[in-house]
Amino acid sequence: MLNRPIADNVDISIHQPRDPNTLSNYNVWRTKHVTADLELEFNKNRCVGTIKLELERLEKGQGSGKVVLDTSFLDIQEVKLAGKKAKWNLGERFEPYGSPLTIEIPDDHSGDAEIEVTMATTDKCTAVQWMTPEQTSNKKHPYMFSQCQAIHARSLLPCQDTPDVKSTFTFNIRSPLPVLASGLPTGNKDFRPGEGDAPGTLLYTFDQKIPMPVYLFALASGDLASAAIGPRSCVHTGPEELLASQWEFEPTEKFIQAAEKIVFPYAWTQYNVLVLPPSFPYGGMENPIFTFATPTLVSGDRENVDVIAHELAHSWSGNLVTNCSWEHFWLNEGWTVYLERRIQAAIHGEPHRDFSAIIGWKALTDSIEGYGAEHEYTKLIPDLKGKDPDDAFSSIPYEKGFTFLYYLEKLIGKEKWDKFIPHYFATFAQKSLDSYEFKATLLDFFAKDEKATDKLNSVEWDTWFYKPGYPPKPDFDTSMVDVCYDLAGKWEALNSGSSEFLPSASDISSWSANQSVVFLEKIQTWKTPLSPALVEKMGEVYSYAASKNVEVVSRYMIVGLKARCESVYIPTTELLGRVGRMKFVRPLYRNLRECDEKLAQQTFEKYKEFYHPICKDMASKDVYGKGRGG
Ligand code: BES
Ligand code: ZN
Repeated sequence: MLNRPIADNVDISIHQPRDPNTLSNYNVWRTKHVTADLELEFNKNRCVGTIKLELERLEKGQGSGKVVLDTSFLDIQEVKLAGKKAKWNLGERFEPYGSPLTIEIPDDHSGDAEIEVTMATTDKCTAVQWMTPEQTSNKKHPYMFSQCQAIHARSLLPCQDTPDVKSTFTFNIRSPLPVLASGLPTGNKDFRPGEGDAPGTLLYTFDQKIPMPVYLFALASGDLASAAIGPRSCVHTGPEELLASQWEFEPTEKFIQAAEKIVFPYAWTQYNVLVLPPSFPYGGMENPIFTFATPTLVSGDRENVDVIAHELAHSWSGNLVTNCSWEHFWLNEGWTVYLERRIQAAIHGEPHRDFSAIIGWKALTDSIEGYGAEHEYTKLIPDLKGKDPDDAFSSIPYEKGFTFLYYLEKLIGKEKWDKFIPHYFATFAQKSLDSYEFKATLLDFFAKDEKATDKLNSVEWDTWFYKPGYPPKPDFDTSMVDVCYDLAGKWEALNSGSSEFLPSASDISSWSANQSVVFLEKIQTWKTPLSPALVEKMGEVYSYAASKNVEVVSRYMIVGLKARCESVYIPTTELLGRVGRMKFVRPLYRNLRECDEKLAQQTFEKYKEFYHPICKDMASKDVYGKGRGG
């Protein structure tokens, strides 16, 4: 890790950690336990309190005379070492990594360190969205939720903000509204309101006893109701959306059992889903105990429940076995997509796996074309030194990672490969790893199997790891997509005037929503766009323009935007005011900008406060910036 950029005032010259996206000296000190005593102040939109870090000293002598923590836009009030005031300093901000908080450890302090930081978040906090009652669905109460992955935890609490460090957590959170956190609830403890507490403030406590990286630290608080969706699962949402969510996520337990058969038993006791307000910037986020999910999953047709299979799969890949830095993100996401598709195959049959993989290949294509096939971020292991992992986020680690694992499965043969899966997850459970450890473990596992070893010797590891652009395309089973492509072919002929095809609703009446997604994506790839008149016809005849499923309607809008069909411009802006999930928001803004830059910018200005800070930042780049990308 030469040339690693680092703030001038941080001396990490002795130890070069393998994560380039943290300013902390985590190779010298290692967080073992974090206690977060925080009050959620809805009147000031901030979290205030004390974060206690229990740190183990890894190295004697040089380097351990100070602890350096990551912070970003935190208001630090006081720091204690072993209960006494400590000497500390908040370094200058170093983009995009924040301000290092350096705490002196005097020479006469031997052994481990217990550090308590009294702090408050500020209005520049990128990890939390605070919502007014008007921004919530029943408009009765305020709401807040956090999103720490990839490097936003540092704007919520001082920490070693690297996935290479895992610790246990205790959450003691005071709020006037129900609270959820990424730990198991331990019962509300006795709590007397203090001076200035909002009426009805209670203490909510949670424990996370399985060591986890801090990017999985999560909080949400608002008017929440819950209902059971299985023997170890509940869904939490606003009271009005509860029944619809309960129906939508009913398959959860089946998914858990399928995943347990592929890997090994679920470790985290409960698997619950929290359905967030529409500004939640992702489809789902695998926070332990509570997966956070976008309300766009609740489409009334169970067509988006694969996202739950995905977040659940992270309980093994990501949460138990974790990438040691965001450069090795494919180990989290590629493995998760691989497991998600195995879960689907176990429940619905093998063709569904390839169907989903074909949708994934299209997402990979879009990302590679967006960046350009030579771009650093199209590598399986990109160089992220000095970079913001959010900027490198795309479908590439997901789909190139999946393609690699799918290739290895086919190479070795499924029966043998399936024995490696639990071995890999057991070997690295509660640990963080890089791609080289993955490779070594795979080679080692098959070392005594000559046939498998021969095959593994043919793997071009460096090409897979470092070559930008497309991996070799697997030979997918196309049985489920062929009907979609056939229908797209009929529209293509109609568009070129070489056919009399008469579209009717019955063309797609037996289809799943995801088959419509494949159909619409195929049309997006045409060199000659659909004519505006045909875009409108398609929207009416297939009811795409009015679809409740955002996966479908957003793809339809993009078909319309690519066709410069002006009648979709306003519905597109309306959709952009209704959903804040980046997967939809970013392509919609990019395509709208190509049609009408002013309209894209006006729309963004109108809705930017509705978006989560991360989405606001990324979408503003799409609307005003030069960068394209994944
Ligand atoms: N962990 C990711 C979300 C994420 C990644 C947040 C990087 C911040 C930084 C989550 O598991 C995810 O991949 N969500 C996908 C769902 C999907 C691929 C089924 C999403 O949000 O679309
Ligand atoms: Zn994921």
